[in-house]
Amino acid sequence: MALILLLPAVLYQLCAGQPGPPDSPGRIAVVGAGIGGSAVTYFLHQQFGPQVQIDVYEAERVGGRLATLTVNSQLYESGSPSIHSLNLHMQDFVKLLGLKHRREVPGRSAIFNGEQLVLEETDWYLLNLFRLWWHYGISFLRLQMWVEEVMEKFMRVYKYQAHEYAFSSIEGLLRSLGGEHFVNMTHKSVAESLQGIGVSQRFIDDVISAVLKASYGQSVSIPALVGAMSLAGAQGNMWAVEGGNKLVCSGLLKLTKSNVIHARVTAVSLHSTEKKHLYEVQYERDGTLGSDYYDLVIIAAPMHKATFQMSFLNFQPPLAELARSYHRVVTSIVHGYLNASYFGFTDPKLFPFASVFSTDSPEAIFHSLESLCPVNVSAGFRRKPPQEAGVWRVLSSRPLDRKELKTLFKSYYSVQVIEWQAFPNYSTVSPSKSLPPVLLHDGLYYLSGAEWAASSVEMIAVAAKNVALLAFNRWFELSEKIDQQDLMHRLKTEL
Ligand SMILES: Cc1cc2nc3c(=O)[nH]c(=O)nc-3n(C[C@H](O)[C@H](O)[C@H](O)COP(=O)(O)OP(=O)(O)OC[C@H]3O[C@@H](n4cnc5c(N)ncnc54)[C@H](O)[C@@H]3O)c2cc1C
Ligand SMILES: *[C@@H]1O[C@H](CO)[C@@H](O)[C@H](O)[C@H]1NC(C)=O
Ligand SMILES: *[C@@H]1O[C@H](CO)[C@@H](O)[C@H](O)[C@H]1NC(C)=O
Ligand SMILES: *[C@@H]1O[C@H](CO)[C@@H](O)[C@H](O)[C@H]1NC(C)=O
Ligand SMILES: *[C@@H]1O[C@H](CO)[C@@H](O)[C@H](O)[C@H]1NC(C)=O
Repeated sequence: MALILLLPAVLYQLCAGQPGPPDSPGRIAVVGAGIGGSAVTYFLHQQFGPQVQIDVYEAERVGGRLATLTVNSQLYESGSPSIHSLNLHMQDFVKLLGLKHRREVPGRSAIFNGEQLVLEETDWYLLNLFRLWWHYGISFLRLQMWVEEVMEKFMRVYKYQAHEYAFSSIEGLLRSLGGEHFVNMTHKSVAESLQGIGVSQRFIDDVISAVLKASYGQSVSIPALVGAMSLAGAQGNMWAVEGGNKLVCSGLLKLTKSNVIHARVTAVSLHSTEKKHLYEVQYERDGTLGSDYYDLVIIAAPMHKATFQMSFLNFQPPLAELARSYHRVVTSIVHGYLNASYFGFTDPKLFPFASVFSTDSPEAIFHSLESLCPVNVSAGFRRKPPQEAGVWRVLSSRPLDRKELKTLFKSYYSVQVIEWQAFPNYSTVSPSKSLPPVLLHDGLYYLSGAEWAASSVEMIAVAAKNVALLAFNRWFELSEKIDQQDLMHRLKTEL
């Protein structure tokens, strides 16, 4: 019996002449090697099998906005510092690659309004709750329930994806998770949504605005969905990868044995024959031009209005304009002595905070200021007391000038500045404008548009799996696995 069962597989291998199903795509290109590009490479490899060659084009650094820099011969996160614990894909990657969670070093936060600290976290959780309760009453509970509800619905995506369901638009994916209400949350503001459930204006101005400013450099007018995700992060449960978050990207690319090409893609052009579409990827490497042909192309680089210069050629009708406005965030990594008196502490020894967030006031010169731990935290590690020189990360909307640095720091050894096209400029969002498309052409996909629903490592990893499943399901015409809307109900009855 076992022999008979085995036979078709053996025959199939012999007849095909080459390993793998005969009609798999031959070659796939991925543009961008941030977490989006690396994750989609891994998921494509998983779906189509190891025989499909994947070329990954990266113009700058593997990791993208997951990045590190060196201060005093130690590495620190300079891009996205932390990952939410509900991000199941990232958790899987870390396990798969044999990486570790970085040891947590506790630290307290405070909120600063430009003149004084308006809210201070204490060591004692119950006391914190009590203070929030005292200050803001029922608003705090309402907020928690709201965030939990959003996250609970969002978590459904992992189940749908485990069953290989894919969506050809971000709206479709969101609708399947939380109905039309979820889609509306991508253009209705956080402030409006929270007012709608009875959260007080004072709580929104003092607390919510500070958290959102620190997370996205933007105000409480950003959409509710991205706001809810970032507020979920503010409740704790954040983690980071020991050795640097970007190790996940390089690890996945290595694991899949994909071919990383250090080149900037300048154009994708369509070449159609009667039988199929081929996509030519044109690129520039060290001033020389090259090109190559692919069956599938995934764009995993956000299209910035200011800097993205990739063209799409020979598409009839031409592809819609994809570039949108992004919001700049400047990271300054400062090695020096904090000026505690700026925050009202004349004795620096008494300054107890590891991070300070600014409320959304025009006087605030920074969004957030945080004492950093290196990406490798040894067992005996302790945070530097504030009277000693430490490494601080300051986020701001523009580079800090010398005077501002001299206000925040008594003195410093070094300042390293990185300007990020960090997040979508959410003030360009409107109800009449849909989210960026996922499917650009038969074999051409755009992954990074998912950031317009929520800019986070979590959202991008989910979008990466969706694109890989969509490409696979479309390639093998598994239409029953695409754009299904009643999955909640169906998966319950199927299982
Ligand atoms: C300062 C900062 C703090 C953040 N904090 C958090 C946080 O706490 N939690 C969280 O979840 N998220 C956070 N984020 C957001 C998070 O970093 C991003 O959502 C995520 O890393 C995006 O990954 P990506 O792969 O889509 O894009 P990217 O990481 O931007 O990767 C795109 C890659 O494509 C490459 N590329 C671009 N154009 C081309 C081309 N023409 N040819 C070839 N390659 C090209 C780029 O060089 C880049 O490496 C933060 C971001 C910043 C900047
Ligand atoms: C979503 O928004 C539209 C208008 O933008 C509105 O008509 C509709 O009732 C909203 N639906 C839900 C469920 O919130
Ligand atoms: C930091 O951690 C990573 C991952 O665990 C490890 O590979 C690397 O060797 C460590 N580096 C140092 C300097 O300890
Ligand atoms: C974001 O968009 C708004 C509205 O279009 C615009 O006024 C603002 O200048 C943009 N910000 C950035 C940083 O591009
Ligand atoms: C520190 O902050 C105080 C209060 O804002 C300010 O007067 C002082 O000039 C700042 N700089 C130094 C070096 O103390």
